[in-house]
Amino acid sequence: MSVKTYELTKYFNKLCAVDHINLEIGNESFGLLGPNGAGKTTTVLILTTLLKPGTGDAYVCGYDVVKEAKKVRNVISYVPQDMAVDIKLTGRENVLLFAKLYGVADRKKKVDEVLELMGLSERADDRVNSYSGGMRRRLELAQALVHEPQVLFLDEPTLGLDVSARRKMWEHISSLKKKGVTIFITTHYMDEADKFCDRVAIIDRGKIVAMDSPAKLKNSIGKDVITASVSGEFKGLNIEGITFLGREIDNIKFTAESGSEALPLLSEALSRQGLKVHSLSVREPSLDDVFLQKVGTQEEQGSFDDYKFRTLLRRRK
Ligand SMILES: Nc1ncnc2c1ncn2[C@@H]1O[C@H](COP(=O)(O)OP(=O)(O)O)[C@@H](O)[C@H]1O
Ligand SMILES: [Mg+2]
Repeated sequence: MSVKTYELTKYFNKLCAVDHINLEIGNESFGLLGPNGAGKTTTVLILTTLLKPGTGDAYVCGYDVVKEAKKVRNVISYVPQDMAVDIKLTGRENVLLFAKLYGVADRKKKVDEVLELMGLSERADDRVNSYSGGMRRRLELAQALVHEPQVLFLDEPTLGLDVSARRKMWEHISSLKKKGVTIFITTHYMDEADKFCDRVAIIDRGKIVAMDSPAKLKNSIGKDVITASVSGEFKGLNIEGITFLGREIDNIKFTAESGSEALPLLSEALSRQGLKVHSLSVREPSLDDVFLQKVGTQEEQGSFDDYKFRTLLRRRK
C-alpha cells in the first residue's frame, strides 16, 4: 500500500482541517479534489511528514509518518503549491542541487534523464528566470524525480497555468504513472482529475464525501444532467422525475432520467415562475455534478464556484 490513513484528523485551534480521513492508495494516480480551504494541503503536509497529525495514523509505503518520518522522506517526493526552484540558476543546476542533496549516484546521467523526461533538455542550461510558468512547474517535477521516489505528492500542480501548459503538465504526469510511480495529486480542477486520475476522493470541509474512480462517481448520479441558464429568482420545482441538483450563479442544474423528455417540461415550468430562460442543455454527469450532489444544496452551500467565492470572502473578513 503506497498510502494508508486511519481516522486521520488535524485541528487548527477549533477548526477541523482534516476530519477522520481513511485512505487506502495503491500503485495508482490518486486525486484529492475539493475547493479552497477543504483540507487538501493539510493532508499532503501530514503525509509528507512536514506537519504533525492531530489524531489517527498515516503510513506511506508502510512507514509511519510520525515514528518513521526519515524513512518516509526517502521514498517520497513533494512538489509544493508554491514555487520551489531558484530562478537565478539554470534548470540543470536546480536539478543537480537536488541530486546532491539526496546523494544520488551517477548524478549527471540521472539529471539528464529527468530533464529529458520533463521535456526540458533543450533549455536545461538557460536560467530559470527565462522559463515560462509551465516550464518552471515541469522543472519542479524533474527535481522531485531525481532520487526516484516511489510516491510523488503534487499539490495543485496546474494552478495558475494556461490551458496548453496544463495539458502538457498532465501528459508528463501521466508518463510518470506509466513508469510505476504512485501519484498523489491535489487539485480543484475537477475536469482534469476526471481525465487523468485512476481514483479520486472529494474532500469538503475536511471530510471525504466521495471516493471512487471518476467513471463510477459520475455513473452514481445515474441520470442526465440538465443545465438551465436563467436570470431571475428560482422558486423551486415540483415535477415528477426532475430533481434539483444545485445552482451555479445563473446556471441551475437538474437531473432527470431522460434529459430530452424533461427539457420541454422544464422550460415551461421555469418560464411560468417568471424566470428568463436563456438556454437549456443536456449532458452526461461530470465530477462537478458529483460535488454538487454530495455537498451542495441551494440553501446552505450553493455550487462549487459559489463555495470557492465564499471561502475567499470568509478569508478576507
Ligand atoms: N497553519 C494553519 N493555521 C491555521 N489554520 C490553517 C493552517 N493551515 C490551514 N489552515 C486552515 O485549514 C483549512 C484547510 O486548509 P488547506 O489544507 O490549506 O486547504 P486546501 O489546500 O484544500 O485549500 C482552511 O480553513 C485553512 O484556513
Ligand atoms: Mg492547498
